[in-house]
Amino acid sequence: MRRLLFAANWKMHLGPDDTRGYLKTFRARYNRREDRDIWFFPPAVAIEAAVLAVRERTDLLVGAQDVYWEPKGAFTGAISAPLAFQAGARATLVGHSERRHVFGETDEDTRRKVAAALAGGLAPMLCVGETLAERDAGHTLAVVVRQLAGALSSLDGPTLSRLIVAYEPVWAIGTGRNATPRDAATVHREIRAWLTGRGADAPRVLYGGSVNAKNVAELLAERELDGVLVGGASLDPEGWAQLVQTGAA
Ligand code: 13P
Repeated sequence: MRRLLFAANWKMHLGPDDTRGYLKTFRARYNRREDRDIWFFPPAVAIEAAVLAVRERTDLLVGAQDVYWEPKGAFTGAISAPLAFQAGARATLVGHSERRHVFGETDEDTRRKVAAALAGGLAPMLCVGETLAERDAGHTLAVVVRQLAGALSSLDGPTLSRLIVAYEPVWAIGTGRNATPRDAATVHREIRAWLTGRGADAPRVLYGGSVNAKNVAELLAERELDGVLVGGASLDPEGWAQLVQTGAA
């Protein structure tokens, strides 16, 4: 049976006070279900507040949105995997489309960050996905495979089994336009084949891009999706509590 993963990427929203209030409301509204995990990616300053608010809940986990690859040093403004771990994070996003397209992150950067996350005890959630121009040119699968290879090709099967891949087409992020379950499934199959071909055991592949309470059931009905990575629709604790109770494993 698949175990669903619902991941909330808060991006640059919700500080420590907001986080405490959010998770109090969320915990009151979410009836725990044994077939799913809920992960939160708050801004770095709110990681510790989130960790304290979900303690004693093995189904709720907190991660960082990004980490730099060096463990420590003179890198003003950056946080490392060991620092995020010390704050209580147990996962990190790597290569989110906003990191790639707003901050200019390269495939080589994602390779270093995945390695640093693994070394620092964080489960990497590698984000991949094509732009609209790449999609229109018919390059979707080539782009996704290039991003996978760029970040992961030096890793062995057991190590690949420790990470998660999120397919987030850039044109679907924050646009209200989501991929169809069928389109997503085609890409998910390719990602899964790439990972299992290198020895990964039962890799988890999530979909992200304009997921909301209205479309999540249809998306998760597609068995290739092991869960969702959600931005805008995760910012309201009541809406998120409702969204994460949708769909069957
Ligand atoms: P939206 O759900 O707001 O489209 O954002 C998706 C995303 O980027 C999650 O990481």
